[in-house]
Amino acid sequence: MSFYVTTPIYYVNAAPHLGHAYSTIGADILARHMRQRGEEVFFLTGTDEHGEPVAQAAEREGVTPKELADRNAARFEALMPRINASNDFFIRTSDPRHKRRVQDVMQKVYDNGYAYKGMYEGWYCPRCADFKTEAEVGPDQTCPIHKIALDREQEENWFFQLSAFQDRLEQLFVDNPGFVRPRQRYNEALSFIRGGLQDISLSRSKITWGIDVPWAPGHVFYVWFDALLNYYTALSFAKDGTDLTDAFWPANFHIIGKDILKFHTIYWPATLMAAGIELPQQVFSHGYLLMRDASGSEHKMSKSLGNVLDPFEVMDRFGTDALRYYCFREVSFGQDGGVSTVTFGERYESELANELGNLASRTLAMIGRYRDGVVPAVGVDPELEPDFAGLHADVTGLLDQAEITQALDRIWTRVRRLNRYVEERAPWQLAKDEAKADELDRTLRSLAEGLRVVAVFLHPYMPESTTKLLTALGTPETQLSDFGSHPGGQAVEKLPPLFPKPE
Ligand code: ME8
Ligand code: MG
Repeated sequence: MSFYVTTPIYYVNAAPHLGHAYSTIGADILARHMRQRGEEVFFLTGTDEHGEPVAQAAEREGVTPKELADRNAARFEALMPRINASNDFFIRTSDPRHKRRVQDVMQKVYDNGYAYKGMYEGWYCPRCADFKTEAEVGPDQTCPIHKIALDREQEENWFFQLSAFQDRLEQLFVDNPGFVRPRQRYNEALSFIRGGLQDISLSRSKITWGIDVPWAPGHVFYVWFDALLNYYTALSFAKDGTDLTDAFWPANFHIIGKDILKFHTIYWPATLMAAGIELPQQVFSHGYLLMRDASGSEHKMSKSLGNVLDPFEVMDRFGTDALRYYCFREVSFGQDGGVSTVTFGERYESELANELGNLASRTLAMIGRYRDGVVPAVGVDPELEPDFAGLHADVTGLLDQAEITQALDRIWTRVRRLNRYVEERAPWQLAKDEAKADELDRTLRSLAEGLRVVAVFLHPYMPESTTKLLTALGTPETQLSDFGSHPGGQAVEKLPPLFPKPE
């Protein structure tokens, strides 16, 4: 089976921040997990380079949009290996191959009769690149997301006949309750549809930084059509000489933040319907990471609000895995949640260093000390078996729905179970009594096997440290497997602390 997962493509109007890392790591966890299941995976991320958000930022900085795009796209591209994202391709919408494909698809929309020329008048946020409906306008005609004054736009545009898809979209939602997750976002999108869809701009004539509309000289595509289509166009040129569209389209998951829900759950399926292209299976909209400002109130972290936590700095001190773990442990994927250096430090110490790190070093040290570094080839403790029995089904079932935090919670329950097991069995006591050699064998073997299994399931979340741990355990294989399925008997190695105290 194939599995295609995407992140939003990020605006190149500024440098990447933790919010971008967050969506990308979320998608990466799914991609890595599906590879563990033996699926054929394609994982796409990239940058959104056209439209006003980029053109205006370039103007402010006194460079051309292309210069700004090149500079910042390089920073986003460099973010990916830094956060250990295993993306198969990085798309830039300024790529001429993307442009041609967008023109082809949009030409179909036009040919199918869903585009017409008209006059747009209404409120517009240049940071969102969003024409706001009356219901979406904040107090005093401001953008509720960016807190800036909205522009009153009046412009001759080509329109996309979104209203023609009112019934089909409603039906799509009714037929596919899993099309948008979590449920709250599904309800939000459906009520937007039920509120009545109005046609939207398809082109802009005031902006030049964009993809030319083939049938309308002087117009470029409204940036959202160009941007959303990246998910589809990338497959046609990501791999030299091969078109991957048939192999991977439709996408299994679009991972997005809740700020861009309307575009992905309404405009996007409607565009695909208009072009006669199959729809993606699921859109998962996560919440905002919020950071406390000096006054103690919480804000969405964003470039424009200027209260940015630099993911590079966090990773330099604590490592990439710690950042990856923390983001998905601290904030339930799908909900908003606060992040801070305080709770980061707490979880790093109590969960990563103590619960997982110590369990690993103790287990390996005891196997070294009591059994010459070889895991006894005996059966696992039947007492632990029921505690691990549901793990595989729990995690796969939850990750099928992108429930990344819940799946992590199920895995961590087993980490804690193993810690209790060490205390209950007290191998250092058993080691004092020759008559208890069999029990010590079984205990050490069960700990090694339990640790192996949690490391395998944690691998998508923390690829670096689990690779080290699995290697030290003498079982480097990362394919999903169950407790007790490894026979034991392998030699283990010493392991420096997985989560050392930071400098
Ligand atoms: O909207 N918490 O790009 P963008 C969590 N180019 N996630 C956050 C976040 C936060 N505080 N801040 C940003 C765009 N994000 C368009 C998308 S897609 C076809 C085009 C993440 O640079 C989150 O995924 O503004 C959000 O949806 C995305 O960055 C917005 O990135
Ligand atoms: Mg944004």
